Amino acid sequence: MTVDKSESRIRRMFGEIAPRYDFLNHFLSFGIDKYWRWRTVRRVPPTGDASILDLCCGTGDLALAYAKKLAPGGRILGADFCHEMLVLGRRKAARVGEAGRLTFVEADAQGLPFPDHSFQIVCNAFGLRNVTDTDRGLREMTRVCQPGGQVAVLEFSMPRRQPMRGIYLWFFCHVLPRVGQAVSRSKLDAYNYLPKSVGEFDDGQALCRRMREAGLVDVRFWPMTFGVATLYVGAKADGRTQNAERADGV
Ligand SMILES: C[S@@+](CC[C@H](N)C(=O)[O-])C[C@H]1O[C@@H](n2cnc3c(N)ncnc32)[C@H](O)[C@@H]1O
Repeated sequence: MTVDKSESRIRRMFGEIAPRYDFLNHFLSFGIDKYWRWRTVRRVPPTGDASILDLCCGTGDLALAYAKKLAPGGRILGADFCHEMLVLGRRKAARVGEAGRLTFVEADAQGLPFPDHSFQIVCNAFGLRNVTDTDRGLREMTRVCQPGGQVAVLEFSMPRRQPMRGIYLWFFCHVLPRVGQAVSRSKLDAYNYLPKSVGEFDDGQALCRRMREAGLVDVRFWPMTFGVATLYVGAKADGRTQNAERADGV
């Protein structure tokens, strides 16, 4: 049976675990999640006074990682449809002195309230998999990205090589749900949902294909930490990239 990814269930589920979300993220990943976000910022750095959208921002960890690299004049928007997550994100941004240029907006990734071509970078960490209509989410990310800008998706994936694959599957499918459930006390079983949703979600070339179908070009991916997480990056074509692609095709 496929996991229920209806908007109302997803929103309630993340609302329910929001108070323990950051703790469990860092604890269950042994802190490696911070490194994955750091790598994302390194691989897709902002230039000049960039405007950045962190979509499905949760409590804003990727937005905050970007804030460290942003030149004066830059701005970051964190968008998520889970109110409880955004409340915690705003509080965290204020605590680290980034409330001035990091704004949080309540919005559904499938219908963003921003004009076309608004952001130099549109990023999404561990959120896309939860969006009910993934392709619609990807099309929205592409639409609001500026021509010549980049779309970055950080997602869980499955290690392909043994023995890492076996060890990880045991941890991810047996240890993590139990610890996550014990700490979060999620009524909607959020930490059983996690491995199931990852198992059902496209990774590697399959996700790259979906990004291309959403209108992105030059899509590439980098597996990290034995393939436990993968960073996917695509560009929105400007005049030059479109021409280059056409020239390649001739
Ligand atoms: C696993 S959390 C990731 C949070 C954060 N990006 C991080 O790196 O920790 C997934 C987030 O996606 C959000 N989300 C899922 N579907 C969404 C949608 N359709 N629109 C906006 N946010 C969504 C959830 O509310 C949740 O906060």
